[in-house]
Amino acid sequence: MPVISVPYAFNEEELYVDLRPIFGHSLFLKCEGFNFAGSIKLKAATAMVESAERDGDLRPDSVLVESSSGNLGVALSMIAASKGYRFLCVTDSRCNLATRLMMEALGSQVHVVADEESKGGFLGARLAYIRSLCASDDRCVWLSQYTNPSNWKAHYRTTAPAIARSFPQLDLLFVGAGTAGTLMGCARYFRNWHRPVQIIAVDSVGSVAFGGNPGRRMIPGLGMSVRPPLLDESYVDEVVRVAEADTIRTCRRLARSGFVFGGSTGTVVSGATDWLARHDTRGLTAVALAPDLGERYLDTVYQDNWVQDLYGEDVLRSEFPSATDIDAIGLMPPLRSSEPQSQPRERRRRHDA
Ligand SMILES: Cc1ncc(COP(=O)(O)O)c(C=O)c1O
Repeated sequence: MPVISVPYAFNEEELYVDLRPIFGHSLFLKCEGFNFAGSIKLKAATAMVESAERDGDLRPDSVLVESSSGNLGVALSMIAASKGYRFLCVTDSRCNLATRLMMEALGSQVHVVADEESKGGFLGARLAYIRSLCASDDRCVWLSQYTNPSNWKAHYRTTAPAIARSFPQLDLLFVGAGTAGTLMGCARYFRNWHRPVQIIAVDSVGSVAFGGNPGRRMIPGLGMSVRPPLLDESYVDEVVRVAEADTIRTCRRLARSGFVFGGSTGTVVSGATDWLARHDTRGLTAVALAPDLGERYLDTVYQDNWVQDLYGEDVLRSEFPSATDIDAIGLMPPLRSSEPQSQPRERRRRHDA
């Protein structure tokens, strides 16, 4: 029975979903969302704060500042609250409302940059704001997840060995890349393992992390508008790019099987299943990483209007009917709380009881 006194002391490291029944490919999905920060970013946040403490960079009056599309911000908010530091998260308009409210609930300040920089996009605007803040106030300590080696080392020490323990016969590992901390920590670990593991990076279309043309990206977490400084491509065997429309289809398909994951999990699973469909992988063991769960994406990825406006109606049409479709074909009478009389007699009786 785990009993904890600080919120960052707990992380479920040994939970996998077997995706074969849903997608027909042998793929084990490592769930990283079961901790008090709700995401894999707990590991990078803990490692970066602890190394800043070891280096003597944090004083009682220090203000942690960091650029985050959300999950690292929540993890740092939680750690800062627990350790008594102040934290300012610099984010942009793609940060989910639930994520922002979570950071504020934990006592952090959130600054949302107004505009994209002409060349550096939202990230450029976030970093420019942080630089000006650090130049004007020496209490600010910028952890800089994009360049901080503690980011990838966290996964070298925790995520990768945990996968190795659970899958001693691992052949293929699919990892999404944002800062590339998770990717590089796992790739470096498995480079020196007892057997070769193919490392397949998953990126979103519109990201320039591995080259390619920049484009609109609305789902936070994966993808970068610049090359990730932590990335060393010599550790990556292949890169798979996923369009956000496919990310959404995959998230919704998972949800219709009872697994509500975050947006980047849809990207990773879509990229991985697509790759597995193109290769003969009989007898091979494949694992993919699911960075977080889906509650923070209910008003985006799982919201029909948001999806329809950004990606078109096609994305909503799938082999799995949505609740509205079921209403339309009459399997489920629509509930109208203002018209109780319109409910069928059977239903009314059940409510009365
Ligand atoms: C939901 C989600 N997925 C994926 C990633 C990418 O992880 P990394 O920064 O280690 O590449 C992040 C990073 O913030 C994330 O929040």
